[in-house]
Amino acid sequence: MSPERTESPLGRSGWAGDLPPPGSPRPWPRAFPPPKAAVAGQRSPSPRSLWPVPSGTRCSPRTSCRHPVRAYAEEVTLTLESDRLLIRDWEEADAEAAVEIYGSADVAQWLSPAIERIDEVATMKRVLAAWVEAQPNFVLPAGRWAVLRKDTNELVGGLLIRLLPPYEEDLEIGWQLKPSAWGYGYATEASRTLMRWAFTEGGIDELFAVARPHNERALATAGRLGMEWVGETDKYYGLNLQVYRIRAGDFKAEDAKEHPPAPGDD
Ligand SMILES: CC(C)(COP(=O)(O)OP(=O)(O)OC[C@H]1O[C@@H](n2cnc3c(N)ncnc32)[C@H](O)[C@@H]1OP(=O)(O)O)[C@@H](O)C(=O)NCCC(=O)NCCS
Repeated sequence: MSPERTESPLGRSGWAGDLPPPGSPRPWPRAFPPPKAAVAGQRSPSPRSLWPVPSGTRCSPRTSCRHPVRAYAEEVTLTLESDRLLIRDWEEADAEAAVEIYGSADVAQWLSPAIERIDEVATMKRVLAAWVEAQPNFVLPAGRWAVLRKDTNELVGGLLIRLLPPYEEDLEIGWQLKPSAWGYGYATEASRTLMRWAFTEGGIDELFAVARPHNERALATAGRLGMEWVGETDKYYGLNLQVYRIRAGDFKAEDAKEHPPAPGDD
């Protein structure tokens, strides 16, 4: 490992830029709904379920499958499930598996902002520690999450929602899978699940995705998610990027066909 990288893995990775400044609880003056208040040791007064968690689901005491809104409350955790996948907060213990994602040149070459691949477990561990520390400071529904296969518990990817620079008005959803997990629909499935939560609990009207022009797989995933191409820009990260957008109403209308609300859900 180079001394430079040891000193500043986040700075070199370029992925520190979206982290809230240390000690700054709500860094962005954004018109999102404020996080719901939490009282230490108590559950939210009347948390409502988002969508049914399949029976047999394992929810750790630290996490709440049915009340992911608590992600932005006291415990700062989120767990969502789809048919095959689990979306949860990152943990430092994910470092070795995460290197298969962020250490891969096939993944890193497409990321924005441009990053150096993170190919050492120790470096990845520090990056994850920063992500874990930053998570409570994101404004709902922004954050970073790990994606795992439910049947094997294998970490297959990462998901994020964050404000796009430079104006920090538009929210981006981003997805990264380790190459051996490409071609199974995991990015589409996990993103759809996260979008359902973001549009339901995040109170947002739209989500964007950005990808480099020749990133065919990412562009195809945006299309599979029902996102529409809205243009090309160089205003984000100084990169030439294709921009896709989906509005809450369009997503919900499409999603309702595939996931009709279960009895008892509001
Ligand atoms: C972008 C990226 C996540 C796409 O991975 P992916 O596996 O192709 O994405 P999807 O989840 O949409 O899967 C679609 C593929 O799975 C197949 N598939 C299998 N089962 C499927 C299912 N149940 N649902 C949907 N697709 C399915 C599709 O046919 C398609 O295969 P094909 O591309 O060979 O035609 C991945 O290439 C990646 O991590 N790239 C680097 C990071 C990156 O570019 N991120 C985005 C920009 S920041």
